[in-house]
Amino acid sequence: MAILELENGKIYTDLQSISKELAPLNIQLDYWAIAENQELAQKLAQASLDDSEKEEVLQSLDKYFELLKQTAGYKERDLIVLHPGISNLDQMLQKFDSIHTHADDEVRYIIEGEGIFGFVRPDGSQVELTVQPQEYINVPAGCEHWFYLTPKRRIKAVRYFIGREGWVPEYTGTEKVKGQRLKVRS
Ligand SMILES: [Fe+2]
Repeated sequence: MAILELENGKIYTDLQSISKELAPLNIQLDYWAIAENQELAQKLAQASLDDSEKEEVLQSLDKYFELLKQTAGYKERDLIVLHPGISNLDQMLQKFDSIHTHADDEVRYIIEGEGIFGFVRPDGSQVELTVQPQEYINVPAGCEHWFYLTPKRRIKAVRYFIGREGWVPEYTGTEKVKGQRLKVRS
């Protein structure tokens, strides 16, 4: 279940209110169910996955990829798996923890673990959205945002691309509001 925290500390957990708060940014947030599948559940429970396991997980969720291919011209997908056992995890995450934009939409489908997106709204206010399993998010091109992990430091997410060059971070130099860290995360 997604959690949105505003700059003033107000917290929303229902999709309707969250969508309303994020509307000025044209962010799309949806619930995409993962069908019950014991084999898939076992793979998702593992901290790390090898390449063939990743491909099996991706294939079991490809009906969503097909939809994006047909409706929005998506061409590629991969599975990002982050966990505390990755030796350069902090280094990898640092790249996305400063406010940035991308030339293409950033499109993610969270299937295990959780992460936090921060956004700068058109009025300059900053909000933080925790995304959790079975949540699909599309952050539009040009939207100022940042991303980091909760203290669990674990996430598995499908990334969908039209082209890979379009999601390189372009740093905007906007500073994050001090102390803006989600209070409700566990
Ligand atoms: Fe990004």
